[in-house]
Amino acid sequence: MALETTLILCKPDAVSRALVGEIISRIERRGYVITAMKLMQLSGDKAREHYAEHKDKPFFGDLVNFITSGALVAMAVEGEGAIDGMRQIIGATNPLSAAPGSIRGDLAQTIGMNLVHGSDGKASADRELKIFFEAGDFVSRKHDLAKWLAD
Ligand code: RTP
Ligand code: MG
Repeated sequence: MALETTLILCKPDAVSRALVGEIISRIERRGYVITAMKLMQLSGDKAREHYAEHKDKPFFGDLVNFITSGALVAMAVEGEGAIDGMRQIIGATNPLSAAPGSIRGDLAQTIGMNLVHGSDGKASADRELKIFFEAGDFVSRKHDLAKWLAD
């Protein structure tokens, strides 16, 4: 395994339902650390760039409308194997298929409002992190993580 950083979004439904604390708590309990974080409302251009892989899908318009509809919280999350580990914590795309114990399995009802985004691989994480963050936004937490892993 390698130390990885992934992009996590608490989508507008998570912010409006006041579930950001619950989501961050699950990330922290897994032992991952947040190295950058922003409360923001995404522009249409950035939303289309972020979800570019879905531009030809029938749900693309709804997806962009939803992700730009209100405040979201963007986070860079670091840990050993954090990209796949966060996908595991988040659960399957459709909450009806998401395992109990996952964020979507416990807290979401519909595929359109599934609370959280997590990068689906190394290339996606590197590409997506640059859409939301600049180099100066990151705070080194490597010491914290090393300490936690050693316990
Ligand atoms: P995300 O990118 O948000 O972490 O979700 P994901 O990897 O689990 O799913 P993905 O295939 O990347 O789809 C992105 C988002 O598009 C919406 N979606 N709707 N109506 C549909 O069939 C459909 N399929 C996907 C979901 O909100 C999904 O999170
Ligand atoms: Mg995805």
